[in-house]
Amino acid sequence: MVRDVSEELRRRLEANREGGGAARREKQHEQGKLTARERIEFLLDEGSFEEMDALVEHQCTDFGMEKKKTPGDGFVTGHGRVAGRPVFVFAQDFTVFGGSLSESNAAKICKIMDLALKVGAPVIGLNDSGGARIQEGVASLAGYADIFLRNTLSSGVVPQISAIMGPCAGGAVYSPAITDFVFMVEESSYMFVTGPDVIRTVTHEEVTKEKLGGAMTHNSVSGVAHFASASDTQCLAQIRRLLSFLPSNNAEQPPVVETDDPLSREIPDLDDFVPSDSNKAYDIKKLIRWAADDGDFMEVQEHFAKNIVVGFIRIGGRSVGVIANQPAHLAGVLDIDSSTKGARFVRFCDAFNIPLWIIEDVPGFLPGTAQEWGGIIRNGAKLLYALAEATVPKLTVITRKAYGGAYCVMGSKHIRTDINLAFPTAEIAVMGSQGAVNILYRREIAEAEDPVAAHTAFVEEYQDLFANPFVAAERGYIDEVIQPRMLRRKLAAGFALLATKRDWMPTKKHGNIPL
Ligand code: HXC
Repeated sequence: MVRDVSEELRRRLEANREGGGAARREKQHEQGKLTARERIEFLLDEGSFEEMDALVEHQCTDFGMEKKKTPGDGFVTGHGRVAGRPVFVFAQDFTVFGGSLSESNAAKICKIMDLALKVGAPVIGLNDSGGARIQEGVASLAGYADIFLRNTLSSGVVPQISAIMGPCAGGAVYSPAITDFVFMVEESSYMFVTGPDVIRTVTHEEVTKEKLGGAMTHNSVSGVAHFASASDTQCLAQIRRLLSFLPSNNAEQPPVVETDDPLSREIPDLDDFVPSDSNKAYDIKKLIRWAADDGDFMEVQEHFAKNIVVGFIRIGGRSVGVIANQPAHLAGVLDIDSSTKGARFVRFCDAFNIPLWIIEDVPGFLPGTAQEWGGIIRNGAKLLYALAEATVPKLTVITRKAYGGAYCVMGSKHIRTDINLAFPTAEIAVMGSQGAVNILYRREIAEAEDPVAAHTAFVEEYQDLFANPFVAAERGYIDEVIQPRMLRRKLAAGFALLATKRDWMPTKKHGNIPL
């Protein structure tokens, strides 16, 4: 009998679309989750998805698996468009063997990752999986390692984005961990290397999945994730928004977006926005939004190490990566978490041709045994290294405090920053006046008739000398002291000038950032 190929194809494709069946899809919905296909449809431009490997099946014959095959094997992979630009995508379908990774569907992921690298397009992974396909044993582990290798090789070439939209446990976490941005959905996703049961056995700690590795834990405590979303749809919309700031690969410039916001727009509110009293806090995010096109700022890692703020804006329609000390949180001090957060963001921007705007108001590095023993030396060095090695256009604005080593780190002229601007409120010195006077004049103050008056007089003298931008400007460490209201104009002019900047690193295999 001649086989009816069309009918057979129709049957297989239908089985592929059916996945684990209506009941399992229903369970997925009951848990507030979309299915793999629904997620892809929501993520991509309408009708743009082209599925690949819809007919791939697993090759396992143990545990009666030869009788349990689903075309596609539970992973939906392919390519489509986001805002007209090509992207590659894979989505784990929890309705088929719990979205577990088989040798076959690992090969599907590798196939699109290899193609993405050649084409120069981002890879987006939508994770919702019970981990390694238990029935396949080491073949599944090999599949993970194949993906990890590609994550590493693709790093810095095409943007890689992971969304965690269900379980992601064990070694499986290391693929998202290598990617550039990790999104998590609140209450339906979790990530951990070992789960609550193993932890109870080994360390006798009691912890829920959510507390151990839920979205807010990784967004606010561990810093593993970059974005938390209330729902699948919000998460997918955020991914689309993030992509709008990014080039498709490291050989491209980020897309230019039209804006009606004039580059000459002055910001009168900025003139007395930064308090001259260096102990008073203010919200640096306000300043960022005032300067950005249409007030649009996509913050990255909003909930983690809030003493540094990082994210994307546009100036004149062109993407800019912002890294700013946040005086409204711990006075904007640099510590271990803020240094690593800043460093990773800077390296992403540098890898993908996104200019950097560094905003500085920093009292220094956070003192304390916890910081010293935790390795603030090694970790603070990451931020210094990242900013020094970055060859993209770099523009620094000192709004107020620029003290000590933190002055050097936060985009100083000396680490090849292209344009260094300061507000009149800038204070560029080795340390704050109180600390300096206590060291320089300890004996004089102790021996004075009126120690309080003597202290005040020394502080005033020190402030007159150093609590201003002039000493640095006299040496050319600051290119210009600007009126704050002119901030947007100066940024626009600076980044326009630097658009053709070329700078290099000495030839090497790679540097050795202090990890
Ligand atoms: C094969 C799996 C599976 C797996 C789940 N399923 N995980 N099949 N391999 N890893 C199947 C279940 O048998 C079930 O099939 C269906 O998926 C749904 O699973 P449920 O348990 O009913 O769902 P739920 O109650 O929501 O629980 C989800 C879960 C649980 C917490 C993820 O399934 C689970 O603990 N799975 C095992 C997790 C695990 O230990 N994975 C290996 C980790 S090691 P039916 O037919 O009943 O619908 C690892 C190493 C990676 O991943 C190493 C990389 C280097």
